[in-house]
Amino acid sequence: MDHFLYRDGVLYAEDVPVAEIAAQVGTPFYVYSSATLLRHFRLFDEALAGMDHLVCFAMKSLSNQAILHLLAEAGAGMDVVSGGEYARAVAAGVPSDRIVFSGVGKTRIEMRQALQGGIRQFNVESEPEMHALSAVAVELGKIAPITIRVNPDVDAKTHAKIATGKSENKFGVPISRAREVYALAASLPGLEVIGIDVHIGSQLTDLAPFEAAYLKVAELTEQLRADGHTIKRLDLGGGLGIPYQQINEAPPSPQDYGALIKRTVGHLGCEIEIEPGRLISGNAGLMVSKVIYVKDGADRQFLIIDGAMNDLIRPAMYDAHHDIVPVVQPAPGADQATYDIVGPICESGDTFAKGRSMAQVGPDDLVAFRSAGAYGAVMASEYNSRPLIPEVLVHRDQFAVIRARPTFDEMIARDIIPVWV
Ligand code: LLP
Repeated sequence: MDHFLYRDGVLYAEDVPVAEIAAQVGTPFYVYSSATLLRHFRLFDEALAGMDHLVCFAMKSLSNQAILHLLAEAGAGMDVVSGGEYARAVAAGVPSDRIVFSGVGKTRIEMRQALQGGIRQFNVESEPEMHALSAVAVELGKIAPITIRVNPDVDAKTHAKIATGKSENKFGVPISRAREVYALAASLPGLEVIGIDVHIGSQLTDLAPFEAAYLKVAELTEQLRADGHTIKRLDLGGGLGIPYQQINEAPPSPQDYGALIKRTVGHLGCEIEIEPGRLISGNAGLMVSKVIYVKDGADRQFLIIDGAMNDLIRPAMYDAHHDIVPVVQPAPGADQATYDIVGPICESGDTFAKGRSMAQVGPDDLVAFRSAGAYGAVMASEYNSRPLIPEVLVHRDQFAVIRARPTFDEMIARDIIPVWV
C-alpha cells in the first residue's frame, strides 16, 4: 500500500496534487511519501515484535538526509556500505550504535572512520578483510565487533545482477568453511565475534530461499556455539521484494517474513537484525516526468519524455518494469495507446518500456513512474550533462524540496581547468 492515489481525477502524493509539485519544481523529479516510508518501516518493526531486534534501513536504496533523519527518528538503524554512507548516516543523526557496516571491499580508511566514529558491528566478508580490520583495530586500540557474512549457496531466484547468495557470487565466506573462518576470527586481536550475517539477494518474491538460508544459519549458530563462539546476534540481510506491477503481483508481506524469521531462528535467543531497503523505500517514491513529443515510428509510436536512463536506470540495467501512469486520471473508457516509452538520451538503451499499453497522453502531459523510490535517485548520474533531478518529500499537505536541481552553472563549476590547459 502506498500514498499515491487518484483523487478527484488527479494523482496525489498524500494530500498534495503531484501536478502542483511539478509546477513548482519542474520536471523530471522524484517525490517521496513520508507516510509510506514510515508505514513500511513500522511493518518490519512490528513483524519482529517479541524478539530483541533492530531494523537497519539499507540506505543504498535511498540515502537523502531527510529520509534518513525521518527513519532514524522512528527508531531505524542503518546498513551502510561505504565511508560516504557512514558519513551520511552520522550526519542525519543516526546513533553510531545503530549503524552496521556491510560490503565486500571495505578499505582500511573506511574501517578507521567507523571505528573512530563508533559502529554497531562490521559484517566481515573474507579472511583478508578480517586481517585488515584486526590490524586497524589494534592500531587504534579499539575492539571491532564483527559478524561474518556467510554465503549459504542458496538460489534467491531473482535477477542475476542482484542475486548474492550463490557460491559463484563474490559475497561472504562459503558456509562450508565458516567454522575455520570463525576460528581464525577468535584468534585475531582487536576483534570480538558477536554473530552471523547473511544476505542472499534483492527483490525476492518467494520466502523459500530465505527459509533455506535461515535454516542453514540456525544450524551454523549451534555448531559455532558448540565450538565455543559467542553468537548473540543474527543479521539476516534484506531483500524482500515489492510488487512492481499493481495487478497480478503479491509478494510475501513483512508479517509473513517476520513469522518465517521466528520459525527458523526464533528459538536461538539471538538479537535479530534485518536490512530491508527496497520494501521500505520502493513504493514510497514516484519519478514524475513530462511528455515532450509523441513520435510516429515506422511500426510504433514513441512517447518521448523528459526523464531518461540517467535519472532512473533500472529499466536499462535490469530490464526492470515500472508502472507508468498519467498524472491526470484517464476517464473511464478513455482511448488507449501502445507506446515505446523513451527518454531523450542518445542511445537506444534509454528505453523505459516497450509496447506499453496505457491511456493516450500528449505533449506536456505528466506521467508518473511508480515504485521508483528505491534505487532511483541514488543510481542517477549526469550523463548527457543532465543535472541530477530534484527530490521532494511530502508530509500530508506539505511538501519540501529535499535536494534541489543543480543549475547548469553549478554542474559546470565542479570541473576544474588546470592552468596548463
Ligand atoms: N543488505 C545488503 C548486504 C545488500 O547488499 C542489500 C542490497 C540490501 C541489504 C538491501 O536489499 P533490498 O532490501 O533493498 O532488496 N540496484 C538494484 C538492487 C541492488 C541491491 C543491492 N544490495 C535494483 O535496482 O534492483
